[in-house]
Amino acid sequence: MSDNVFPVPAEVAARAYVDDAKYQEMYRRSVEDPDGFWREHGKRVDWIKPYTKVKHTSYDYHNVSIKWFEDGTLNVSTNCIDRHLEKRGDQPAIIWEGDDPSEHKVITYRELHHEVCKFANLLHFKGVKKGDRVTIYLPMIPEAAYAMLACARIGAIHSIVFGGFSPDSLAQRIQDCESKVIITADEGLRGGRSVPLKANADRAAEKAPVDCMIVVRRTGGAVTMVEGRDVWYHEEADRVSDHCAPVEMNAEDPLFILYTSGSTGSPKGVLHTTGGYLVYASMTHQYVFDYHDGDIYWCTADVGWVTGHSYIVYGPLANGATTLMFEGVPTYPSAGRFWDVVDKHKVTIFYTAPTAIRSLMGAGDEHVTRTSRKSLRLLGSVGEPINPEAWMWYHKVVGEERCPIVDTWWQTETGGILITPLPGATALKPGSATRPFFGVQPAVVDAEGNFLEGATEGNLVITDSWPGQMRTVYGDHERFVQTYFATYKGMYFTGDGCRRDADGYYWITGRVDDVINVSGHRMGTAEVESALVAHPKVSEAAVVGYPHDIKGQGIYAYVTLMEGEEPTDALKKELVAHVRKEIGPIASPDLIQFAPGLPKTRSGKIMRRILRKIAEDSFENLGDTSTLADPTVVDDLITNRQNRG
Ligand code: PRX
Repeated sequence: MSDNVFPVPAEVAARAYVDDAKYQEMYRRSVEDPDGFWREHGKRVDWIKPYTKVKHTSYDYHNVSIKWFEDGTLNVSTNCIDRHLEKRGDQPAIIWEGDDPSEHKVITYRELHHEVCKFANLLHFKGVKKGDRVTIYLPMIPEAAYAMLACARIGAIHSIVFGGFSPDSLAQRIQDCESKVIITADEGLRGGRSVPLKANADRAAEKAPVDCMIVVRRTGGAVTMVEGRDVWYHEEADRVSDHCAPVEMNAEDPLFILYTSGSTGSPKGVLHTTGGYLVYASMTHQYVFDYHDGDIYWCTADVGWVTGHSYIVYGPLANGATTLMFEGVPTYPSAGRFWDVVDKHKVTIFYTAPTAIRSLMGAGDEHVTRTSRKSLRLLGSVGEPINPEAWMWYHKVVGEERCPIVDTWWQTETGGILITPLPGATALKPGSATRPFFGVQPAVVDAEGNFLEGATEGNLVITDSWPGQMRTVYGDHERFVQTYFATYKGMYFTGDGCRRDADGYYWITGRVDDVINVSGHRMGTAEVESALVAHPKVSEAAVVGYPHDIKGQGIYAYVTLMEGEEPTDALKKELVAHVRKEIGPIASPDLIQFAPGLPKTRSGKIMRRILRKIAEDSFENLGDTSTLADPTVVDDLITNRQNRG
């Protein structure tokens, strides 16, 4: 191995479920005999009616169909709660740490059962039935987990919308899945500031009316309750029983919808189903984090993203784990908050995003070194490529060279981790997600879809299905086929580029489509563009990503104004505010350049390649510009570029 390599520490190997030999053996079996492999590992969850069929999947472009364990039945909430009660009734299921360091709460499995049953009964009482969609717009409070599991208990399909999305984005997501119920809170609390969730939900409901809004009281802030539509959770929950029989679900019944951005159009409702998803989320959680009884596991994601679904709630709870849920932000009240929480709750496994690592790295080592962190034994990273400098800092300063780092590559669509080290098995290379998990068959293809062998670079595809894979785009199977199976026939296209080295390690290089990754949040450039052109002073807009020290990528917007409009700094601010209102703060452009003209081909297509180069401040080599309708626009773009160095 030529790169900087970190071998598996002996004490990590000694306690791990798998060492390298076992990984090789299990991996080989998983791809040579997927049916046999998953027939065995599917048993890790409790089935009401055991499956006899295992894998029934087709990547054939004309007939894409993905089914796992299709004749089995189960309930996700009983797998995450009831089956643990006998042995772990008094064990903490969730440790909740509030935004304010003086607030925390421990919820045992028995208490979780009680809360989820109540929530499920309340939903049932409000008329929610199996197959109905329920939109959840909550902060990071235990009720978010209760609401998810309550839906799962009665067979309702949840659709969580991240609290940072605007009323318009929320309305769009309510409309798309025709949800009649919203679960929200009076306000969220992040970094000492309140987020007006109920007021946002009210505005969303003006556009997308719902029959019922269930409101959790978090801050006690003033809200307007609409008679006949809105109810307080704490009042209603008092009236219902804490026993609720789980509904028997087929393995392929939907569990949740989660909206995610793509290169074109509005966000897609990624649909995950019940059996395969739970098997895959729980198995990856156990093996990737080498979770053992007694571990305190903390994933810092928000439940509004897939990481929160699979690795705060479903994976850990299916494994009977103790999962920590954090309401706040990494820098409040200080940049040492993460490590204070680690010490406070004796966290052993810590999973976060590169953007957080980079921002804390910039805040200074003293915030870390003043804490003990002795409980930590494993670190994880997810959401975007981790640059080797950030990896090294995480390893040295946070983990004191004692804790392996699992750099986990996956997507909303994949349901769980696909490419990752296993702590007891995989020597690490900073910046590489290393090797595939069991059952995952990655390949690298060129632009035409030809397989590239050995050490190479190209587009990342997966050639066969795994149980956690999304099944469809909610309500639009054709879009599912076109988005993921049309580029390279017979393969799942990830949208990511990657390099594979001589050791067979994968290095994800980032998106190769028009999706950008801002602080680990996925954003379609087309969405930001359509928000910008919705502003009355904007005639045209083109949005690209550019390298950003903390966020990974920043949002760079080229804006052409309507005839007669003045390109002022005040207007730039107005446009940023406009995008925040339309989509949410996570979509705020970092840099706006007023451009009298955009580089277009004679057929009118914007040449984004050129815009990307200028945004990266590397315009010396713009490639062929001879096909541009008006090559002179490029000079103006370069002269007025906003990212210098
Ligand atoms: O580009 C990859 C990047 O995040 C994308 C998926 O985003 P999302 O669906 O929001 O899910 C994020 C959490 C799983 C991928 O297409 N990505 C995710 N993890 C990594 C990564 N890029 C490099 N390394 C990773 N570990």
